[in-house]
Amino acid sequence: MTILILGGGGREHALAAAIARSPDCDRLVCAPGNAGIAALAECLPCAIEDPAAVVALARQLAADLVVVGPEAPLAAGVADALSAAGIAVLGPSAAAARLEASKSFTKEICDACGAPTAAWARFAEAEAARAYVTAEGAPIVVKADGLAAGKGVVVAMTVEEALAAIDRLMAEPGAEVVIEAFMAGEEASLFVLCDGETALEFGRAQDHKRAFDGDTGPNTGGMGAYSPAPVLSDAVAERAMTEIVRPVLAEMTRRGMPFRGILYAGLMIEDGAPRLVEFNVRFGDPEAQVVLPRLACDALALFRAAAAGRLAGETVAWRAEAALTVVLAAKGYPGAYEKGSRIGGLVAAAALPGVQIFHAGTAARDGAIVASGGRVLAVTALGADIAGARDAAYAAVECIDWPEGFCRRDIGWRALATTAKEG
Ligand code: GLY
Repeated sequence: MTILILGGGGREHALAAAIARSPDCDRLVCAPGNAGIAALAECLPCAIEDPAAVVALARQLAADLVVVGPEAPLAAGVADALSAAGIAVLGPSAAAARLEASKSFTKEICDACGAPTAAWARFAEAEAARAYVTAEGAPIVVKADGLAAGKGVVVAMTVEEALAAIDRLMAEPGAEVVIEAFMAGEEASLFVLCDGETALEFGRAQDHKRAFDGDTGPNTGGMGAYSPAPVLSDAVAERAMTEIVRPVLAEMTRRGMPFRGILYAGLMIEDGAPRLVEFNVRFGDPEAQVVLPRLACDALALFRAAAAGRLAGETVAWRAEAALTVVLAAKGYPGAYEKGSRIGGLVAAAALPGVQIFHAGTAARDGAIVASGGRVLAVTALGADIAGARDAAYAAVECIDWPEGFCRRDIGWRALATTAKEG
């Protein structure tokens, strides 16, 4: 079977590694891929946000399944074009991808099916948004009502911060914002594999969004993650499936836009009660790098079943070990950073027991691996528990010789504090 993965980051490397383990995977292609993915798959160039270009590549390869990694191709209608061409795809239609592309759409869906989430209001006029924030006070959350590559959400602890966020997010003509009540609690992510009718829980994780230790510094795409997430217990996950995920999926189907793909529910959990923070319509990055290595069944078989609408009766099996990943980023990220610096020690790091290194932003040059992005590597390790995974991941990080990079030294701190309290 020939599988085409779209994307070129750490998430797609983790997807490639999971799919490559399947006995049914004969040929694995990734567009555009990266230097790490190239060890597992053929990497081909493709304008992955152009539906016609993706269909042409899938046809040329006679792909049996296309797995879409990032959200932008989904919002651009790549899954619709593939489905129309009769090519199986794991990823939702553009209509269903609005669960990530439009915050107000998601809020309307939640309201329609009673899924618990924060109170909200949408504004097309900055003046009205400013007046609302001034009346409501802080803390308060301001979100761009569209895809914003991780820069569209501001949790404002003061009214002044919220007003500045409104000015920034509404600077472009036509921009709208959604303003939400602040939710207290602990955030965690629940992944769900969906075929339009059936929803199978597909992993739990927590990530670290801030750049620096102690959850300080600017927001990033994620500087590390671990799975499982102690705050997302079986009981909380079941509540989230019952109170949020299944009602939302039923409402999407009722509206004629069934969701087929991987749904990422960002949850705020307080006193055992989950509320929805946001949906993404694809795997998390770096959450995929800790969820997928724990999978103890055939990922490709499940992805094909989801794409074909036949998930009913399928089950997911997990390894008992925990996984933790540490992201190595170029110094300066998430601001300006240099590209092209050489990274050494990768072979020694990957040789440590339980360690897998996922490439996020790398290229091969003159026989060496060089940095080509902001987030560059995700160093993942499995361990008997999160502490064991953390120790193994940092031992691997120590083997990597890359003076131009940095990482957080406290990935997993929250889970370890919870475990210590419980113990
Ligand atoms: N780690 C956050 C995301 O994938 O959106």
